[in-house]
Amino acid sequence: MGSIESQPVAARLSRSAIFIVATLNEGEESARAVRALCGDLPALVRAVGFRDLDSGLSCVLGFGSQAWDRLFDGPRPKDLHPFREINGEHHAVSTPGDVLFHIRATRMDLCFELATQIMSRLAAALRVVDETHGFKYFDDRDLIGFVDGTENPVGEACVDAAIIGDEDAAFTGGSYVIVQKYLHDLDKWNQIPTEKQEGIIGRKKLSDIELDDAAKPPFAHNVLTTIVENGKQLEIIRDNMPFGSVGKGEFGTYFIGYARSPHRIERMLENMFIGNPPGNYDRLLDVSRAVTGSLFFVPSATFLDSVEP
Ligand code: HEM
Repeated sequence: MGSIESQPVAARLSRSAIFIVATLNEGEESARAVRALCGDLPALVRAVGFRDLDSGLSCVLGFGSQAWDRLFDGPRPKDLHPFREINGEHHAVSTPGDVLFHIRATRMDLCFELATQIMSRLAAALRVVDETHGFKYFDDRDLIGFVDGTENPVGEACVDAAIIGDEDAAFTGGSYVIVQKYLHDLDKWNQIPTEKQEGIIGRKKLSDIELDDAAKPPFAHNVLTTIVENGKQLEIIRDNMPFGSVGKGEFGTYFIGYARSPHRIERMLENMFIGNPPGNYDRLLDVSRAVTGSLFFVPSATFLDSVEP
């Protein structure tokens, strides 16, 4: 049991990332090509990453619910299901996604090279439905100007938040991940006075210091995303990245959250989109629109290594 190795879910937050969401083409050939990549992925990451060991190049591979059944026999991860859309004060869409690659490094060229190597093997097997290149903006800020990632769990707490233990014995060492691509209306956001923005996030904008509980509005982002069950806070690991296109007037945050069960991320989303209580929703969503939404299972590295084409 002790020898099960996880994928690099908890990799150090990086300067660059590429997120690829793809659908699996029809036919057994496509499934076979994806299965063949599973065992070869570490060697690809090693070969590209060896060019600069300090770059911390890593890749996490996840599978959507329907693809899982096409790719693998045997038991299925017990909480794997398609992303459930939410229709509340705002709409969390559910969009297609069979396979996720989350590639991170300090250098975009290495991310790009690894993505190229992976996709050259899978060109006939996958159709890329979204590819987002994320970058770090100033001191780890989102394009809305707030530092993002501060309250991520670290060390033991990180493993406890994101890695499956013995609650699903066949999939120990695995994780679940939800991704959503958000587009911000920055003109609208920038018209909101800083003090009001700080209430929406629940932290100071310049210093990143958390507001006192008494000073936080009930709809503050960090109030609605704090989930406590049976006296215990249920945390997730986030590695959001800004992305955008000046030409298209596109300014976004790519949300990515890992957890040992999708349930806690789904509760955060319900609190944000429906509100807690209903109507007390996340005001970030008045200026940020989710344009994608998908859920994937991230098996352990040990599982990937054991996959036969
Ligand atoms: C905290 C931004 C979406 C979960 C934060 C913080 C910022 C932020 C600036 C405060 C700093 C920090 O602790 O990291 C955003 C933006 C989003 C977004 C710009 C998209 C438009 C989401 C979503 C979820 C989420 C979809 C979960 C489903 C959390 C959690 C925290 C947090 C758990 C930490 C709360 C705490 O313990 O204080 N986010 N976020 N965020 N966010 Fe988000």
